[in-house]
Amino acid sequence: MNSQTQAKPWANQKAVRHYDLTPDQVQQLDNDQTWFFMSRLVARHLPPGSSLLDLGCAAGSLHSLLNKRGVKMQYTGVDVTPELIQAAKHRYPEINFQVASALELPFEDASFDVVFSKGTLFVTQDPHEALLQALRVAKRTLIVDLVLNKPGEPDQTVTTEDRGSVHLLGPQGLSELGRALSGCRVVSNLLNVGLTHRDQLHPAYQKMNYLKHLVLCVHKETK
Ligand SMILES: C[S@@+](CC[C@H](N)C(=O)[O-])C[C@H]1O[C@@H](n2cnc3c(N)ncnc32)[C@H](O)[C@@H]1O
Repeated sequence: MNSQTQAKPWANQKAVRHYDLTPDQVQQLDNDQTWFFMSRLVARHLPPGSSLLDLGCAAGSLHSLLNKRGVKMQYTGVDVTPELIQAAKHRYPEINFQVASALELPFEDASFDVVFSKGTLFVTQDPHEALLQALRVAKRTLIVDLVLNKPGEPDQTVTTEDRGSVHLLGPQGLSELGRALSGCRVVSNLLNVGLTHRDQLHPAYQKMNYLKHLVLCVHKETK
């Protein structure tokens, strides 16, 4: 990993606590539109017993949510923030969680049937590299979300108080995204998910004057 992509754990305790969800709070995730769509995409594209990697897993919300719905999988969760991985291991001791950066994944190519990442690629120092890493370790399906800037505006990095930088894709980021996904089939792309009610957004995002959420589900084409 070079100095530009050096991943930092989240140090802001308010942000860390926000993502340390109890099992009861996990039950409420269907009220969040992004969770609603993304968790259903996973359930649909994960044949029973498949392996899934959750990048930026925080305290294991996805595992808990799918487990309650009876989805059977071999789950691995990674997150760069040690406190969140500690909380995940404490809550779900039988599950595989580890501290790792999305920018330098300690896994072989094509190690997981499905790679999932919600709310994470665009808060890493280098979303493009994180996407390439996610594609590298995925055998078949990638389900991720990104955020876009206003049409015509350039790529932008907005510094937030509690979660570091948030990267909004402009024309450059979108053409890099297109190149990265050139060997893939886009199964689903949902725009604007989660942003119907701006005042329900996390305060870190409310200060951005425009923000569009993009949820992507792609299959790697096998020759
Ligand atoms: C906005 S939270 C999303 C958490 C969870 N996926 C969700 O949607 O509720 C972003 C998560 O990404 C983690 N994170 C930030 N940079 C990362 C990186 N380079 N590698 C892995 N995880 C990272 C943070 O620690 C945090 O848990």
